[in-house]
Amino acid sequence: MVPLQALSGRLRYFLPIPRRFTGAYSSYQEALAAAKNGALAGYDHDEIAPVAFEQMCRLAAWDYPVLFWMRDLVRETGSLVDAGGHMGTKYRAFRSHLPLGEDFRWVVYDLPAIVRAGQKLADKDQLTRLSFVDRMADAGPTPLFLGSGLMQYLDVPLGKLIGEMPEAPKHILLNKVALRKGPTVVTLEQIGRARVPYQIRNEAEFLQHVTGLGYELVDRWAIPSLSTRIDTHPELGRTESAGFYFRKI
Ligand SMILES: C[S@@+](CC[C@H](N)C(=O)[O-])C[C@H]1O[C@@H](n2cnc3c(N)ncnc32)[C@H](O)[C@@H]1O
Repeated sequence: MVPLQALSGRLRYFLPIPRRFTGAYSSYQEALAAAKNGALAGYDHDEIAPVAFEQMCRLAAWDYPVLFWMRDLVRETGSLVDAGGHMGTKYRAFRSHLPLGEDFRWVVYDLPAIVRAGQKLADKDQLTRLSFVDRMADAGPTPLFLGSGLMQYLDVPLGKLIGEMPEAPKHILLNKVALRKGPTVVTLEQIGRARVPYQIRNEAEFLQHVTGLGYELVDRWAIPSLSTRIDTHPELGRTESAGFYFRKI
């Protein structure tokens, strides 16, 4: 049994079995250039929008710390921007667990192809609190920024994205941030037919960046079940996955 397991562990690096993460690059641009050798590069494609939609609409164990903080925050803020909010997946997963008034504004900011698909489905399902923008500047002012599963894919610094809002949000909730102790590495994630740059950030730099924007760390939680490694580069070790609540000082 043990030798067989060891053999299958080695074989996965040689056999054409679908791999989730391949390649290790030192920048987003380098990873994107490598992805462009394939069929589709990046997330912004109509055919990628439905991939894993149903799965992402389910409440997962790692969502509970976010819900814990959001329960009080949504009463205070009356609105939020859900950056990387896909087709409203977290709205669909969270809405029955949060005290959202009828006039609560849940604004998803995402890439154009995802926004098109999300808006169409929200109209069909008559989700009136939910709206979509593909420019952060159009999200309107809101004190609450949610970035769940965003940081891996975001191609600009968080500070730049937040700088496009009319006012810096008071509260930032980030979940499923991929981190490592060594230098930042960008790999390519296979999502449907697309290869998408996926950033595994240096933890200290990430924390310095957010606190440097004038935020204090209020809470942090580990998500061991989302720790992963790059199939083609096991020597780079496992990632850490974490969630954060930052508040403006
Ligand atoms: C894995 S999904 C996360 C979905 C959901 N928020 C969740 O936690 O399950 C990542 C989302 O980030 C979006 N995304 C990638 N790059 C982005 C960017 N530069 N600006 C906004 N959204 C982006 C993708 O289109 C996708 O919808």
